[in-house]
Amino acid sequence: MNKILRFFLRLHLLFFVFFTPIDPKTAQAFTGTYGINYGRIADNIPSPDEVVTLLRAAKIKNIRIYDADHSVLEAFSGTGLELVIGLPNGFLKEMSSNESHAMNWVKENVQSFLPRTKICGIAVGNEVLGGGDYELWGALLGAAKNIYNSLKKLHLTDVVQITTAHSQAVFANSYPPSSCIFKDNIVQFMKPLLEFFSQIGSPFCLNAYPFLAYTSDPENIDINYALFQSTQGIYDSKTNLHYDNMLDAQIDAAYAALEDAGYKKMEVIITETGWASHGDGNEAAATLDNARTYNYNLRKRLAKKKGTPFRPKNVVKAYIFAIFNEDMKPGPTSERNYGLFKPDGSISYDIGYHGLKSSSADSSHLSLKDIQARGWARSCPLILIILLWLHLFSS
Ligand SMILES: *[C@@H]1O[C@H](CO)[C@@H](O)[C@H](O)[C@H]1NC(C)=O
Repeated sequence: MNKILRFFLRLHLLFFVFFTPIDPKTAQAFTGTYGINYGRIADNIPSPDEVVTLLRAAKIKNIRIYDADHSVLEAFSGTGLELVIGLPNGFLKEMSSNESHAMNWVKENVQSFLPRTKICGIAVGNEVLGGGDYELWGALLGAAKNIYNSLKKLHLTDVVQITTAHSQAVFANSYPPSSCIFKDNIVQFMKPLLEFFSQIGSPFCLNAYPFLAYTSDPENIDINYALFQSTQGIYDSKTNLHYDNMLDAQIDAAYAALEDAGYKKMEVIITETGWASHGDGNEAAATLDNARTYNYNLRKRLAKKKGTPFRPKNVVKAYIFAIFNEDMKPGPTSERNYGLFKPDGSISYDIGYHGLKSSSADSSHLSLKDIQARGWARSCPLILIILLWLHLFSS
């Protein structure tokens, strides 16, 4: 009997050794697998308070915004929603050249809202490298460092993570995925940035759009591959890996480029992905049906909480682009039609969410059982039983 008791005591101890979370040294901004971007370049979208209602109903906890708008930060206060805010590109030169401006920005837009508003990340600039403004390429790292150092002085680096989101314009040779590298003219800016982010434990953030890849080459790409539909997929002969959807391939292309640059351990996070539901004449794939298919299948893909063929242990995490159609965005018609919701708060199409206001198209016919991962639901009771059992036997 004594032996049995000791056995269970040891088991109990083991349990706590394995399951007590160790305090992470650095903050982690993206705690779930399914987040959403809250773009606000529109004059007709619901108020931030209504957006909070909508997000809570949809059970979406991880949100990104593109600035640090105080009305949004107020509305998110006390909601438990986890927010990544943005330092817009227009601020980068100033933040890079003057440390005290960076400190003031962090005090005004981050520190003064914590902890009631759960700001857990700052995206310093968006799609800077590979973009048109070369002066910004040089300012990005300095801005990221000054913002980070300000957080450090305020003892906030274990709460707020620094990142920057890249577009796919930073890559060369992304087909097959294993051949992907960073573009020649970008490497000299990218490597020091990766070095800094690896030191502070930040991931590589990528905006990835199978919609854009397909639209640029519809003759050679199977749309079903881009839409997560059943297809032959592609085979990467160098790694001997098979891809049944384009998003996984795009993520592994980023991992290949990181490995080539010497950062094999850095995690890739998708900070934007989506599919336009309406477009111009030369954007034929931007249809309601395709957008619904992509976003529904993406939701299912993320709910599986699985990695990619090349990095099976790194669970794929993505922020959808975006909550709303944004009527004031410049560019092709597709740019104004990425929203899961219309400006009146009703759904754009049915992928299992409910709108703020019901419209005729607004009662979901989808079974959430198809979407939600059930792994945890299944294992939770078992863990509770084991805990109770251990407790009874050891006390
Ligand atoms: C930074 O800005 C402050 C306040 O605007 C100014 O007093 C200071 O001289 C600037 N420092 C540098 C290095 O430009």
